[in-house]
Amino acid sequence: MHGLNKLLLFGVLVCFAQTVGGSEIIDGEKAPEDSMQYMVSLQSNSGHECGGFLISEEFVVTAAHCSDHAALQHVRLGHHDLKEAKSVSIEYTCKFPSYWSVGHGNDIMLVKLAERAPLNSKTKTIPLPNSATNLKENQTCSVAGWGKTETHRYGVTELRVVSVSIIDPPICQEMWGNDLPRNVICAGGFGTKKGFCQGDSGGPLVCNGEAVGVVSSNKHDNCDYPDVPNVYTDLSKYLPWIHNVLRENNFSNLTKRLQHVGNFPEATMVQKQEDVVFKNYKSRRAEAPG
Ligand SMILES: *[C@@H]1O[C@H](CO)[C@@H](O)[C@H](O)[C@H]1NC(C)=O
Ligand SMILES: *[C@@H]1O[C@H](CO)[C@@H](O)[C@H](O)[C@H]1NC(C)=O
Ligand SMILES: *[C@@H]1O[C@H](CO)[C@@H](O)[C@H](O)[C@H]1NC(C)=O
Repeated sequence: MHGLNKLLLFGVLVCFAQTVGGSEIIDGEKAPEDSMQYMVSLQSNSGHECGGFLISEEFVVTAAHCSDHAALQHVRLGHHDLKEAKSVSIEYTCKFPSYWSVGHGNDIMLVKLAERAPLNSKTKTIPLPNSATNLKENQTCSVAGWGKTETHRYGVTELRVVSVSIIDPPICQEMWGNDLPRNVICAGGFGTKKGFCQGDSGGPLVCNGEAVGVVSSNKHDNCDYPDVPNVYTDLSKYLPWIHNVLRENNFSNLTKRLQHVGNFPEATMVQKQEDVVFKNYKSRRAEAPG
């Protein structure tokens, strides 16, 4: 209860700390160069705020609380060293509609890039699970981030990674009590020195090469593990929403292009065949002038 009360009474302070305070991935190591090319750093004018991960050329998944107290401007991607990474502007962000605050769950947000990320050997997407993930207790997964090394230090510029174990949901529930939001996965931060800390928010929990969770919160901002399990948003519960946002974006682009040449009411039916239909439409217009 303590954590939740604190959050309700001093929400601004606590969330601020949860977004930008804290330290690095705990007990981890520098991420190998040829790994995790899907990791992005979400940045405001003052630099790194949160982690995130590329799921398509134009969309990044992160935690909703990452924009609670920071104006995110751009992402950096394509390199584990943030000084070397390419900057891409953010076009818009899209929090899960019923997100309210980090303590209440639904801590997930999509970030639309203003231009396509160049997919190559240094920049890749990570697959999402197809449906409910079947995670097993003690299964080993990993989490990475650019968080600060200590509360009053600067963030690291080189990505760090640590392996974490999945914690049985009933055990996690017991440790967190009523403070545990719905639709979460618990891993690390408990019975071990390994886990994440605040600067790592938004990064993925990766199991078997899939992003299954999003770094959300730990209790009382405590990174001196072992403590209570770290909490990740369970991505498998948000797949329909993610796919809808991506599809709508595709569609809004199509209507924009069609509006450019005139009205086309059938547009709703052709999301998947944009170019074919666009071509047909142009030829129909050519057949029926005026
Ligand atoms: C998981 O690890 C804990 C601690 O080492 C152990 O007590 C527990 O039995 C393990 N559970 C499974 C299913 O292996
Ligand atoms: C967007 O449309 C293209 C074809 O125009 C299609 O290949 C792609 O799968 C679509 N993406 C989504 C997320 O619907
Ligand atoms: C949207 O349209 C522009 C130009 O018409 C194109 O360059 C861009 O790739 C399109 N984006 C998507 C997601 O289809």
